[in-house]
Amino acid sequence: MIGRNDPCWCGSGKKWKKCCYPNEDVSASSNKIPTSSFETLRAAYKKHFDILLKTPEDIEGIRQACKLAADILNELCAAAKPGVTTKELDTLSRKLHKEAGATPAPLGYGDPPFPASICTSIDDVICHGIPNNTPLKEGEIMNIDVSPIFNGYFGDCSRMVGIGAISEEKQKLIDVTYDCLIKSCEILKPGVPIYAIGDKICDVAHKENYSVVHQFVGHGVGLQFHEAPAIPHHKNSCNIELAPGMTFTIEPMINTGKAEGEIDPENEWVAYTVDGGLSAQCEHTILMTDSGYEILTPWDQ
Ligand code: MF3
Ligand code: CO
Repeated sequence: MIGRNDPCWCGSGKKWKKCCYPNEDVSASSNKIPTSSFETLRAAYKKHFDILLKTPEDIEGIRQACKLAADILNELCAAAKPGVTTKELDTLSRKLHKEAGATPAPLGYGDPPFPASICTSIDDVICHGIPNNTPLKEGEIMNIDVSPIFNGYFGDCSRMVGIGAISEEKQKLIDVTYDCLIKSCEILKPGVPIYAIGDKICDVAHKENYSVVHQFVGHGVGLQFHEAPAIPHHKNSCNIELAPGMTFTIEPMINTGKAEGEIDPENEWVAYTVDGGLSAQCEHTILMTDSGYEILTPWDQ
């Protein structure tokens, strides 16, 4: 769990307690939430947790942004071959966003402003890799992260792609990371506490002796890029209950070695594993429904 004095998960650079921290003690308020109607639930989630439960109209907009995110991601992954540069993938991404009438949310995001339209994170990069002019090499594994703004709504997803043929070790890491995402989705229904997501991801990853990154977390998404709540992938005690109308990401980052990452001091974005171990990630945007969940970013595996 990130501490109240740690930098906020939303990338604002402010302390969590001064930024997206829920404005009341979570455990104290969870059992006071009225569930008589969607409107009372919505007001309570906003007041207690600053969580926006989306209306049917919001959901329609978010659904379209998410579909576009998955389509662009599929196309970028298909283009990721040995010899292609990540800069070229970024150029293709900008074109695809533009043709769709969308804006890439990462471009200019945060402080210092993120310099590209997608993140491309190779081998020992945990996340926030910046596209550059180095050609992709056979055997590398890369995460591509796509988050368009479409008609004012945000979608967010990412997946791994192998560059040419990859080793069994790398394929296994990718498969287990995918399993972490899908198995943690399968437990989702209204009333399930947020900590159950991290529990499931840890079960799957630790069984294979992998570690789960705790410095970066999933997040509410839809009306903004990063909304409350934080969705930790590691063991945590966030007992806010999932509720219909929540839209959020699950985006586990799984390492072969230590969980810790260090951020490149030159660009203040790219996060490398401290020990040079491999890291993989995949991400969906999820909608909570009355009885379960829906994956809004159905990218091809
Ligand atoms: N899915 C990533 C996230 O939610 C996308 C990062 S884009 C960046 O943080 F601009 F923040 F790098
Ligand atoms: Co995300």
